[in-house]
Amino acid sequence: MHVPILDLKPAYDELRAELDAAYHRVMASGRVLLGPELEAFEGEYAASVGAAHCVGVANGLEAMQLVLMALGVGPGDEVIVPSNGYIATWLAVTHVGARPVPCEPDPRTYNLDPDRLEAALTPRTRVILPIHLYGQTADMDAIQAVARRHGLFVLEDAAQSHGALYRGRPAGSLGGAAGVSFYPSKNLGALADAGAVTTNDAALADRIRHLRNYGSKIRYQHEYAGMNSRLSELQAAFLRTKLPHLAAWNARRADLACRYFGGLKGVGDLVLPHVPDWAHPVWHLFVVRTARREALQAHLAAHGVGTQVHYPTPPHLTPAYASAGGKRGDFPLAERLASEVLSLPIGPHHSVAQIDYVCAQVRDFFQAPSAPS
Ligand SMILES: Cc1ncc(COP(=O)(O)O)c(C=O)c1O
Repeated sequence: MHVPILDLKPAYDELRAELDAAYHRVMASGRVLLGPELEAFEGEYAASVGAAHCVGVANGLEAMQLVLMALGVGPGDEVIVPSNGYIATWLAVTHVGARPVPCEPDPRTYNLDPDRLEAALTPRTRVILPIHLYGQTADMDAIQAVARRHGLFVLEDAAQSHGALYRGRPAGSLGGAAGVSFYPSKNLGALADAGAVTTNDAALADRIRHLRNYGSKIRYQHEYAGMNSRLSELQAAFLRTKLPHLAAWNARRADLACRYFGGLKGVGDLVLPHVPDWAHPVWHLFVVRTARREALQAHLAAHGVGTQVHYPTPPHLTPAYASAGGKRGDFPLAERLASEVLSLPIGPHHSVAQIDYVCAQVRDFFQAPSAPS
């Protein structure tokens, strides 16, 4: 059997008629940017998240960057970011000239640990930027409590958490604003790069709306030094087509996650995801941990199972951040996770039989007498 980590084609096959109709609608309209599809999608996505405003932008990185710009965060400011996770979160901070200050995760959920936050704050801290990693929200009430005590803004990185709930409230509505990615592999994915900001703050949304379009409210009148970060009509139309299917697709992911929990319980040294009782994850990724990650990955590859590592190098050890002087040992939890995590295939178009096959292969690996140690 072949189990790819990701295959985008079945999503197209399922929605072919609707996606093709969306394509033809946009082509026939002659409108390709900042038109009715974007406006409609912004309203529909805001409603789905329970946020008052949504501003479509070019990608998730720029969504976060634009929020920071709109808040006036810049050189001399610090933003708390997770020490683990994807580098885009750090880059959004770097790109506005501020300094990303890493904070270690909760070792069980892999999300920002609220108990470690206060030690990372300085008088320069302006924003806390938690990621809802792998599709499960961070402990937002605890994070908000710290933010309130210190007068800080909370910006959610909601790139991996479309539809996830925290104590019944949707990711993307849990902070002052959220940056969302619709990168094609996400739970809600466009067919090219795309992103959005959600917020309840009308003034902030208005500012970002202009910042995404060269800082211009009226054509060729530029009030801010803005960016070119627009979500195209075509991608907005595709996203509008997919949004009504998100809940069902997330439910399919949840069923497959259940299957993994049943099939992988108590196997070797494998650590399965931890779901606190307040979390309702959407399983963007199903991430396990083992000290024998490389050998397990090779075994699965040899048996037709695709896996990935999210992420192999914590940002402080990447060449991109070499000038910040980070060294091995600075963030031991992030470093350990980077050496142990492995993402198994999960998606709305994987079958139960495929997941059962992956479980069987993982069990074989740990049970084989010759398994490398
Ligand atoms: C956690 C996280 N943050 C930010 C991003 C950046 O999103 P984009 O690729 O749309 O810029 C991604 C995904 O790529 C992500 O997974």
